[in-house]
Amino acid sequence: MSQEMSPAEIPVGVVGLGLMGCSIVTCFLMAGHPVVAVAPIPADMNTAEPRIRTHLANSFHEGIITNLPETYVTQLQITEDYSLLKNCKLVVECTLENIDIKKAVYARIEAAVPDDTLIASNTSAIPISLLQRQTQLPARFFGLHWMEPSHTTRFLEIICGDLSDVAKADWLYELSHQWAKEPTLVRKDIRGFITNRLMYAMYREAFNLVENGYATVEDVDRAIRNSAGFWMMLAGVFRWMDLTGVPAYHTVMKDLFPTLSNRTDVPKLIDDIVQAGGKGVQNAQGFYEYTPEEAEAWQKTYEEFSYDIQRLAQKYPADVVKKKISKSDE
Ligand SMILES: NC(=O)c1ccc[n+]([C@@H]2O[C@H](COP(=O)([O-])OP(=O)(O)OC[C@H]3O[C@@H](n4cnc5c(N)ncnc54)[C@H](O)[C@@H]3O)[C@@H](O)[C@H]2O)c1
Repeated sequence: MSQEMSPAEIPVGVVGLGLMGCSIVTCFLMAGHPVVAVAPIPADMNTAEPRIRTHLANSFHEGIITNLPETYVTQLQITEDYSLLKNCKLVVECTLENIDIKKAVYARIEAAVPDDTLIASNTSAIPISLLQRQTQLPARFFGLHWMEPSHTTRFLEIICGDLSDVAKADWLYELSHQWAKEPTLVRKDIRGFITNRLMYAMYREAFNLVENGYATVEDVDRAIRNSAGFWMMLAGVFRWMDLTGVPAYHTVMKDLFPTLSNRTDVPKLIDDIVQAGGKGVQNAQGFYEYTPEEAEAWQKTYEEFSYDIQRLAQKYPADVVKKKISKSDE
């Protein structure tokens, strides 16, 4: 690791300390960065520290980190004062998915940091080319798209907007290997980036199957958990076709593609839930019925699962086969 890439020498900032902001802060602390965590709303000042401490305690308990949580907390400053971002080399914005809120936050970040500090957004779907135009220096602006919980998942998309400096994205790409990620660099902005484009194609088809009576919500979930859910962490879509025989996919595509849903409206099934205030397990109202106890148990189970799957992921990095072969050549 070059001196320049030593996280301890690279202070970073996170603005927005909700669900994802807290796990991103945890990821940075675990990687060894000094972190300035800015609370843009007063409520974050009460909730952020306990959340981050819980992530660290669980990560310690699960053996992901070996130092005591307290060691990491010494590197953390939680504040409402944006000016403390002044030494950060990178600031990640993680506020609500609302362009006006994000724009106001960028103005405050840019007022605090020097011109060579990179700024990134964890937006799920607002185009980076649009967001960077809300800033004074768009060339230093990128998307950094994480997956919850950011301190255990290996996923990270680094996205360039039309005006981003790709050389700076390369620096981010290098650095993100210190965060236990297998990053993807999206060199040209596209709405939804890579994963959301793939995932939403799947969500659309799932609604098509349920709304048209081919299968129930439970059946769709069971099918995908036990098919793609089984192999995806190892193989990815293209490797999977290589593993299982490319010509068959060619044949099926010809007949199946014309029958897949290409609707552009929001499906009624999800619209009804959202209109009725449903948020999923967060308020025990979603595609499934939950008692409050079950909803809480699902959240907890997902968290436990994320630690288990992280252990399995470590056993199967992208270069697993190269590593195996070079080991057997020794
Ligand atoms: N939740 C996910 O799984 C997920 C995944 C990928 C990306 N994202 C994106 O990350 C961002 C944050 O999502 P989250 O799930 O952490 O949301 P959240 O609701 O948990 O947190 C939102 C945070 O936004 C900030 N905020 C709220 N109102 C504000 C205001 N008026 N001005 C400034 N800041 C304000 C606060 O820090 C608040 O804690 C969004 O852009 C979201 O699309 C979320």
